[in-house]
Amino acid sequence: MPRKLFVTTALPYANGSFHIGHIMEYIQADIWVRFQRMQGHEVHFMGADDAHGAPIMLKAEAEGLAPRELVARIAAERPKYLQGFHISFDNWHTTDSPENVALSQDIYRKLKAAGLVYTKRIEQFYDPVKGMFLADRYIKGECPNCGAKDQYGDACENCSSVYSATELKNPRSTLSGAAPVLKSSEHHFFKLSDAKCQSFLRIWIDTPGRLQPQVANKAKEWLEGTGDKALSDWDISRDPPYFGIRIPDIAEEKYLYVWLDAPIGYLASFKNYCAKRGLGFEAFLADPAAEQIHFIGKDIIYFHTLFWPAMLRFAGAPYKVPDHVYVHGFITVSGDKMSKSRGTGISPLRYLELGMNPEWLRYYIAAKLNAHVEDLDFNPDDFLARVNSDLIGKYVNIASRCAVFLGRKFDGVLAATEHRLLAEAQAKSNTVAELYEQREFGKALREVMALADLANQFVDEQKPWELSKQAGAERGLHEVCSVAINLFRLLTVYLKPVLPKLAEDAERFLGIAPLQWADSAQLLPSGHRIHEYRHLLTRVEEQQLDRLFDTASVPQASAPQRHAEKQQHASQHAAKEQLVTPEITIEDFAKLDLRVAKIVHAETVEGADKLVKLTLDLGGPTRTVFAGIKSAYALQALEGKLAVLVANLAPRKMKFGLSEGMILAASGESPGDGPGIFLISPDAGAQPGMRVK
Ligand code: 2FM
Ligand code: ZN
Repeated sequence: MPRKLFVTTALPYANGSFHIGHIMEYIQADIWVRFQRMQGHEVHFMGADDAHGAPIMLKAEAEGLAPRELVARIAAERPKYLQGFHISFDNWHTTDSPENVALSQDIYRKLKAAGLVYTKRIEQFYDPVKGMFLADRYIKGECPNCGAKDQYGDACENCSSVYSATELKNPRSTLSGAAPVLKSSEHHFFKLSDAKCQSFLRIWIDTPGRLQPQVANKAKEWLEGTGDKALSDWDISRDPPYFGIRIPDIAEEKYLYVWLDAPIGYLASFKNYCAKRGLGFEAFLADPAAEQIHFIGKDIIYFHTLFWPAMLRFAGAPYKVPDHVYVHGFITVSGDKMSKSRGTGISPLRYLELGMNPEWLRYYIAAKLNAHVEDLDFNPDDFLARVNSDLIGKYVNIASRCAVFLGRKFDGVLAATEHRLLAEAQAKSNTVAELYEQREFGKALREVMALADLANQFVDEQKPWELSKQAGAERGLHEVCSVAINLFRLLTVYLKPVLPKLAEDAERFLGIAPLQWADSAQLLPSGHRIHEYRHLLTRVEEQQLDRLFDTASVPQASAPQRHAEKQQHASQHAAKEQLVTPEITIEDFAKLDLRVAKIVHAETVEGADKLVKLTLDLGGPTRTVFAGIKSAYALQALEGKLAVLVANLAPRKMKFGLSEGMILAASGESPGDGPGIFLISPDAGAQPGMRVK
């Protein structure tokens, strides 16, 4: 029986571009979805932008745009990424849509009718200048516990104490700088603490196979909390100004909180898609065989395992509760945590713009993914080694080593094949399928690569290149190459969910229709003709990773001989006073924390021809900085020298490690444009750690 699957990924806020964390989630869900499609199941893979809320409203305002204009600008760039990484959403919609307004208001009304919505007046901080209520993140002040300045309205970064915004000393609005005042207003609450919600959730969470054990435990911990950890009701309304969906049936202007309408956006996207495709939205949801599955990150478990199922359950028909919520960890880069808002060292757009193959990233991520809530580390060296060794060295290699002989000697026509290796590879079909089903992609790919190893060993042993030169070995050569091509085809079936484009190219080369999972039960018959082999995949080059991590944008040194040639021209050029960037204020300048630093150690960086790794003494603490000055200074000449460090520059992840700041140097505008690079050094007597102002 084909399954009926409605699958989603978390809806990204429409105030910023996708970062690598989004792409990782989409790749995970896309692999699973493509696998299900290959099984012949009915799959509807839905995405959308999460368009509402105060941050989007404020960002739009800061850019002089209406919220919808900002959202439209962000939405317009989505396809570039989604197509770029071969993410096969069937629909991409937005929470700021008529479908979502209708569904959200319907769900709100039904929850109210079920007795699960009540109103209560609450007091909150209000910015009298801005004319709006302030969420905790827009309030800063002194910690009520330790007195640390500049702490947010919910917790202290200095002493980790948790408090409410009203406890801050000297609070001020980060939006206007004004002192906030307490103001009361009526809020709408969802009664999550109601006994019927709790008893439903207990069963929903504990249904075997619904959630990963780690996720179910976390959800139960929240559900069964007591005292100050007891489950509290959920404030689902916001006062204007707010970019959101109006609360229906009340005279006062109030909006649904963005986190209420966001997951309803999954349904809005599906409804929009059903209308376009002539499918029955309600009929699908009412079908007991239908499955609703959400892929999300570990930071939004609370919303998806408590509020969301409870909302759906008590809104009743036509809604159904989620069948599974599959949670993944975060992506780190060389061990460095990424931030939700700032992203991390890898820009997915830069990756694509550099012409790096999206399937390298899909493969690498898949190879490191499992079904647990574990963080996944992107390590550039590991990436290069794994992609080149597995995809080029193992998989593609099988075809490239044998196809030529088939083409040259047998007009591309295959011989009859029978070999224990083929039976072995076919017998893996269920194991690999089960691993994909369970989202154990890393294990699935290890199985596939073990088969690729066997296939290559077989070719190594049979040596078709020698058979091709031996008289009377034609038949053997024909069989060996035909077995190898059949093995390649089976591996293509198993890799297709991860490498859809490569599989398509392989299908063209093999002269076959799009592969389905069940095709692993058959082999290419004798007499089948393949096409001429064309290169299927290029290798990852070291330089591409250098460029991805931006090492090329550190000051560039030019070759010494070019220095001399350009010297004269450059000194004339340098004599001219150049005002190249817009004026800044003294406050802007004061943001820079420049410090005297002593270079205590300098070393070369393996694999980087422009960089040196410097250890800097700041009068106590030391820092590691990578500087692009290798061509201009000998290592020994650097040690002991004083330099000027930009000490408060955000650390930057480079391929070779973390660079904790930047040292100042003079150079031409662009590489080769001037006599070289000159470090800025303070006069003798300056001490490490001194501030440069
Ligand atoms: O955390 C986020 O990025 C939210 N925009 C996710 C929403 S998921 C769903 F509820 F829409
Ligand atoms: Zn504190």
